[in-house]
Amino acid sequence: MALNLDAVGKKIGPISKEYTWKDAVLYALGVGAGFSDLEYCYEKDLKVVPSFAITTLYETMPQALSLTNVNLAGILHGEQELVFHNPIPPNGTMTIEGTISNVYDKGEKKGALVIAESEANHSSGIKLFTARSTIFSRLDGGFGGENPPAETIEFPDRDPDFSVDASPSENQPLIYRLSGDVFQLHVDPEFAKMAGFEKPIMHGLCTHGYACRALIQALIPGQPEQARRMACRFTKPLYPGMPLKTLIWKTEEGKAVWRVQNMETGDIVIDRGVFEYGDIPKDEIRFDGRVAVVTGAGAGLGRVYALELAKRGARVVVNDLGGARDGSGEGSSTPADQVVAEIKALGGDAVANYDNVATPEGGQNIINSARDAFGTVDILINNAGILRDKSFLKMDPNNWQSVLAVHLNGAYHVTRPAFAIMKEKGYGRIVMTTSAAGLYGNFGQTNYTAAKMGLIGLMNTLKLEGQKYNIKVNTVAPVAASRLTEDVLPPDFFEKLKPEFVAPMVLYLSSEECPVTGNIYNAGMGCYNRAAIVTGPGVVIGKGQEIPTPEQVVDTWENIASLKNAKEYTQLNEQIGDLLAAFTPKKAETAEPAATDGGSVADIFNAMADTFNAEAAEGVDVIFQFCISGKDGGDWACIIKDKTCTIDAGMNEQAVCTLKMADNDFRDMMTGKLPAMQAYTSGKLQIEGDIMKSQLIEKLFKI
Ligand code: NAI
Repeated sequence: MALNLDAVGKKIGPISKEYTWKDAVLYALGVGAGFSDLEYCYEKDLKVVPSFAITTLYETMPQALSLTNVNLAGILHGEQELVFHNPIPPNGTMTIEGTISNVYDKGEKKGALVIAESEANHSSGIKLFTARSTIFSRLDGGFGGENPPAETIEFPDRDPDFSVDASPSENQPLIYRLSGDVFQLHVDPEFAKMAGFEKPIMHGLCTHGYACRALIQALIPGQPEQARRMACRFTKPLYPGMPLKTLIWKTEEGKAVWRVQNMETGDIVIDRGVFEYGDIPKDEIRFDGRVAVVTGAGAGLGRVYALELAKRGARVVVNDLGGARDGSGEGSSTPADQVVAEIKALGGDAVANYDNVATPEGGQNIINSARDAFGTVDILINNAGILRDKSFLKMDPNNWQSVLAVHLNGAYHVTRPAFAIMKEKGYGRIVMTTSAAGLYGNFGQTNYTAAKMGLIGLMNTLKLEGQKYNIKVNTVAPVAASRLTEDVLPPDFFEKLKPEFVAPMVLYLSSEECPVTGNIYNAGMGCYNRAAIVTGPGVVIGKGQEIPTPEQVVDTWENIASLKNAKEYTQLNEQIGDLLAAFTPKKAETAEPAATDGGSVADIFNAMADTFNAEAAEGVDVIFQFCISGKDGGDWACIIKDKTCTIDAGMNEQAVCTLKMADNDFRDMMTGKLPAMQAYTSGKLQIEGDIMKSQLIEKLFKI
């Protein structure tokens, strides 16, 4: 079973891990946090220990092992590097994705190094960290591959500048493993003995977490968000209960080297540590080379967007028809011209356009202006708007249509020709303008609120159609002083309500850096938040077979109406998927396992001989004992000898390797849904006896 060198470049993930503050606190407790660093343990103003990042690797590492086919009997977690881009928020979903970036050969009997690199993002859109994990495979060296590059880390020839003591408890691994690394070596005394240890050992990554806390305590007390990079090599195992010291030498501003010492034996258990810290380097958001179209940019919010974009390098089409607040009148070129003059006075580049967004020709002309003047369109901010407020019964068709024509139809007319250019070039940023009135309702504005919610619908689908072409579509709900709000908002607030407070959000959503699509943000007075449409879990009445009665609706009203555990869907298919899933019996509830799931466990064993790969069994002489727990479980022995396979029900005393699993997990593994390696490292598969032999199973049977 040689290393699979073709794994280099292969993808790992994406794997998503949903977590809450409780997971972050559990991890912190696992790595020794307590009242002395309560910021990691108390949900009030909770800060997440940066090395919590590691908990996403418990699933990527097994994939790396499986892809490279390393010899499990000789693997160690060699080195770990984490580069922190942003602090980890106390809850959300982390999604990690990466590749096997290299496999190095240290030489015959010296082992091989498998390098996996991955990047994690948070569900809020921020980039969290980059991880580089090195798996040291002791038994796989000498395949004639490239040597690993030599890296030197200088430790100053003086006593450490800081030394932080810790006393992990005897039971520390039992807490730490609850964060995801449930490998038997850290819990099962029998297994630990079989692996050559007196008793279960600490997780190297648990000690790593202690070191992370120590480094923060010494170098950036109370500011884990300042951690930028943490790298190290795991050098020796450590038994729980041993006192530790993290030894730290500050080598320059923002950088330190470190190691962790077992105080009882003097052994260095983690070495070659590097820690970097400081502010997150911020790149200025720029729009050089970008062409932006802002509708209704002759006044109010649009004017400020146009100016701010131009100040940061964008060339801008300032569209405004220059009409009255209610859209009446002949219009005027003055507002757009004035804004163009302001931009030019600041050294920027802009052209005016006076077309009406409410007509298809107007929309096309606005985009033509951009193409004629600057050759393209990268950014479109649909901002033009009017108001015609009336209570509903006084809302005549003219008032209704005029408002829908400017806000909703206007966005359609301008976006369509812009979208064509963006699709062609594979880049675009579109910002729609909704309103809190639309999102939440406002007396006397049925026309306006309908139009503003229509824009959300337009965004919802356009975000899907634009996804493939790197076109991101988001929506802002501004609050600002302008002629539209002069009689609505209290005059005392006008200074605080400057449109300049809204512009930062609109600029970010218009930028290349914008990480999101299909989102709605309120923005005003420096206060920004996200609004979303969420759906409660609800109930199924009558299993979809009997038509429910209105009385049953009444009976289950509380559950129907509850938004507890509500979910945000990103498209219709997701919601339909959940709807259909509600009618699909859960595996555990079905009396008989579905045939499509590979049949019952007994069926799988009966068919096992048929899936046997005799070629792969050349020279193999082994008896596997399977002990499957659960309703569908039982014991089966699998005897492989002379390139044949025999399955016997019951226990076989000559078995050299025993595999213990739950029935559902076993079915998943044998139908290829659960990679054997993942089953093993996640604790779903427990192996007793000759672990190396168990690696044969995936090869011997066509799973
Ligand atoms: P504003 O009245 O100061 O600016 C709107 C601009 O759009 C005006 O210069 C107007 O001439 C132009 N315009 C109107 N109809 C047009 C058309 N058919 N074609 C081209 N240009 C046209 O208003 P403000 O406050 O700056 O509003 C901008 C956007 O923000 C609007 O969509 C508005 O509904 C939205 N909004 C504003 C809020 C606020 O607090 N100011 C609150 C919520 C939403």
